Amino acid sequence: MGKRCFAMAFAVIMLIIGLLASPTLATIRRSMLTNGLGLTPPMGWNSWNHFGCDIEEKMIRETADAIVSTGLSKLGYEYVNLDDCWAEISRDEKGYLMPKNSTFPSGIKALADYVHSKGLKLGIYSDAGYFTCSKRMPGSLGHEEQDAKTFAEWGIDYLKYDNCHNDGSKPTVRYPVMTRALRKAGRPIFFSLCEWGDLHPAEWGYHVGNSWRTTNDIRDTWDSMISRADQNEIYASYARPGGWNDPDMLEIGNGGMTKDEYIVHFSLWAISKAPLLLGCDIRNMTKDTVEIITNKEVIAVNQDSYGVQAKKVRSQGDEETWAAPLSGDRIAVILLNKGPVRTSVTAHWDDLGLHPSTLVEARDLWEHKTLKTQFMSNITATLSSHACKFYVLKPVA
Ligand SMILES: *[C@@H]1O[C@H](CO)[C@@H](O)[C@H](O)[C@H]1NC(C)=O
Ligand SMILES: *[C@@H]1O[C@H](CO)[C@@H](O)[C@H](O)[C@H]1NC(C)=O
Ligand SMILES: *[C@@H]1O[C@H](CO)[C@@H](O)[C@H](O)[C@H]1NC(C)=O
Repeated sequence: MGKRCFAMAFAVIMLIIGLLASPTLATIRRSMLTNGLGLTPPMGWNSWNHFGCDIEEKMIRETADAIVSTGLSKLGYEYVNLDDCWAEISRDEKGYLMPKNSTFPSGIKALADYVHSKGLKLGIYSDAGYFTCSKRMPGSLGHEEQDAKTFAEWGIDYLKYDNCHNDGSKPTVRYPVMTRALRKAGRPIFFSLCEWGDLHPAEWGYHVGNSWRTTNDIRDTWDSMISRADQNEIYASYARPGGWNDPDMLEIGNGGMTKDEYIVHFSLWAISKAPLLLGCDIRNMTKDTVEIITNKEVIAVNQDSYGVQAKKVRSQGDEETWAAPLSGDRIAVILLNKGPVRTSVTAHWDDLGLHPSTLVEARDLWEHKTLKTQFMSNITATLSSHACKFYVLKPVA
């Protein structure tokens, strides 16, 4: 028996073993989402934080235009996501959702075609209950397959799925029904679970969706933003390519925080591998807003191929250090002053898993420069109130 013969016999045996094992494998596979999406956190825009229910098709098209003309699309912002209030209050006689005639007269398919023509993707919103949170349109409970098919036919790329007005059963019962419906609908649709962290979705979300909210809704204030980041941090070890913790959408540009606070907001979301879904009016942004959300180096941390969410590695009163490993033997570090007065914050190599004698080069992501000094055992920054430093550290020896 020659080598080739042996190799063939071996292949046949492996094939038989494979066939015998495949029912189990297939079952495991079938219990997962496996839509191939969300290998890095999604980036884009959502209508809710700035516009609430006040949305219509012209504004959405203008937003898509602005995402391209401002250069945001080139940086990775690709999803244009409708939130609540896009549909009529009742379904049609066959049970289909109807785009609201007074605000989306051209329909959602036409809007998707337009958004796709710009090289962008269209997201939509529904609810695992009888009504959405606004109560101005139906939810998808009991209509999952019909709605998933409708979304796929319209060319939808992303579904945010809320949790209002449900039947009292567990999210772990209601959300997987939509997972299966989306899979059957035959179009890869990013599935964003929004059950507000009720039933610890980090523990089961990976098999159901591509992201899961870990918190209640964010508001455009420092306290709200920080508390969302903190609540989300608890689940850091569950995030990975294909499934992300979601501390809710960005408020940058909506006016409720200072520039430094919005820099902290963007930094924490980026290092936490959170979805970067802008929530301001893209058609009318200030220079500061543009400067913050277009920081390529900060975005690169968020989109790093490792996909590891940062943890708070040290917390002393109002001084915190957040850190996450990055590809290429690098470490992303945020030094944060949450307090009311200027203070210095230090990251110790012990906290970062580095030997104290390691010599490190530091890149300051907001100053866009590599520091001239190299560091050993720690790095310190003096920070004003509600401000941060964002470094990428790389051992040099
Ligand atoms: C939609 O609204 C237009 C006027 O804006 C009206 O002429 C038309 O009949 C409406 N269609 C439906 C299906 O309600
Ligand atoms: C644009 O934003 C500014 C605040 O930055 C606001 O005062 C103004 O009303 C906005 N304009 C429009 C058309 O929304
Ligand atoms: C930080 O490291 C330097 C040496 O690079 C050392 O002299 C200093 O004591 C350290 N500071 C703290 C707070 O550990």
